[in-house]
Amino acid sequence: MKQPSKRRRGVILTLQGWEKFRDAKTQVEFDENAGDSFSLEELSDRTHLALHTISRILARLEPVDKSSLQFAFAAFNLELCKEDYTRPSPPSGDLEIRRTNPQYDWQEAPDVSVFFGRSEELLQLRQWILEERCRLVGLLGIGGIGKSTLAVKLGQQIQSEFEVMVWRSLLNAPPVEEQLTNILQFLLWALRKEMVVPESFDGKLSKLMECLQSNRCLLILDNVETILSGGQAGQCRPGYEGYGQLLKRLGEVPHISCVLFTSREKPREIIPLEGDRTEVRSLPLKGLNSTEGQQLFQQKGQFTGTEREWQELIEHYAGNPLALKMVAAGTQELFNGKIAPVLEYVKQGILLA
Ligand SMILES: Nc1ncnc2c1ncn2[C@@H]1O[C@H](COP(=O)(O)OP(=O)(O)O)[C@@H](O)[C@H]1O
Ligand SMILES: [Mg+2]
Repeated sequence: MKQPSKRRRGVILTLQGWEKFRDAKTQVEFDENAGDSFSLEELSDRTHLALHTISRILARLEPVDKSSLQFAFAAFNLELCKEDYTRPSPPSGDLEIRRTNPQYDWQEAPDVSVFFGRSEELLQLRQWILEERCRLVGLLGIGGIGKSTLAVKLGQQIQSEFEVMVWRSLLNAPPVEEQLTNILQFLLWALRKEMVVPESFDGKLSKLMECLQSNRCLLILDNVETILSGGQAGQCRPGYEGYGQLLKRLGEVPHISCVLFTSREKPREIIPLEGDRTEVRSLPLKGLNSTEGQQLFQQKGQFTGTEREWQELIEHYAGNPLALKMVAAGTQELFNGKIAPVLEYVKQGILLA
C-alpha cells in the first residue's frame, strides 16, 4: 500500500537568494574555470554536498536543510541571509503551481500601448498558435512594417496560455551558443528544472528541445534577419549557421510549444517545412490601411486633409507605420499639419521619409 509521503521540513532558495548564488558562481567560474559552468560533480566537490542535494538546491523545487544552503553559499564566499531562503509553498500539483505562477520574461521588448489595426492578423495568428498548435511561426515583412509591435501585442494576448514566455531580440547578433545559454537559463529556472546548461552546442539544442517538449513555452525571437546574410536566399551569415540548425530543429521536431519569430526575409530552413498541414507557418505583413494610418498621424498632433489626400499619402508609403510616423512628424513641423503640400512634394519624388 502506498504510504502518504511524510511532510518534509526544509527550505528552498528565494529568487533573490538564487540570483545571489548564481552571480557568485558565475564570477568564480569566470576567474577559475575559464568561464565554463561548473558541472554538478564539481559543485559537489566544492561545496562538500551530495550531488542530489546540489541539484535540489539549484532546482528550487524540493526543500533542503538550511545548513546545506549555508554550505553551498560558503563555498562561494557568501553568507546566507534571511531573504535568501524560504519555506516552499504547500504541496500542490507541479502543473498547478506553474499555471498559477506563469513566468514571463519580456526583457527589452518594445512598448505597444499605442496600437492600431491588425485585428485580422491577430486572429489568424491566434488560430495558428492556439487552435492549430503551430510550433514555428514567422512574421515577415520589410523594416518598419510593424513586425516587432505585432509580435509583442500577440505575445501579451496569448501568454497566459503558456507556462513560460521568453522574448529575445537578435538585434546585436549574439552568437547562437550565447543566446541558447541565455534562453536555457531562464527556461530552466522558470520551469524549476535543474539549472545545468550543457556545454556543447548540440547539448544546448537538445536541452532546449527537451524543455519545449515537456512544457508549453512561448519563445519569441525578434529580428531574425540580423543573423541572415541579406541576400535573397535567406541563408545564415557566416558564423551564424547554428541559428539555421536551431530553426530547422524547432520546425522539424514535434514539441508542444510555440516559437514565433520576426524577420525581414524568410530563413531558408523553414521553406521545406512550411505548409497548410504542417505546424510551421509564416505570415507576410502588409502595411496599415488608411484609417489606421490616420490614427497613427493623430498621435503626432492635428492634421488637415481630405479623405482622398489621406488615402494617397498613406498608400504612397504602403501603410508602413515607421515611414508614416516620420512623415507625420515632418508634416507637423514643416507644414503645420497640412497634408496637401506634403503630397505635392511626395508626388515630385521629394520624400520626407
Ligand atoms: N499596429 C501599429 N499601431 C501603431 N503603431 C505601430 C503599429 N505597428 C508598428 N507601429 C510603429 O511603427 C514603428 C515600426 O514598427 P516595428 O514593429 O518596430 O516594425 P518592424 O519590427 O517591422 O521593423 C514603431 O515605432 C511602432 O511603434
Ligand atoms: Mg522589429
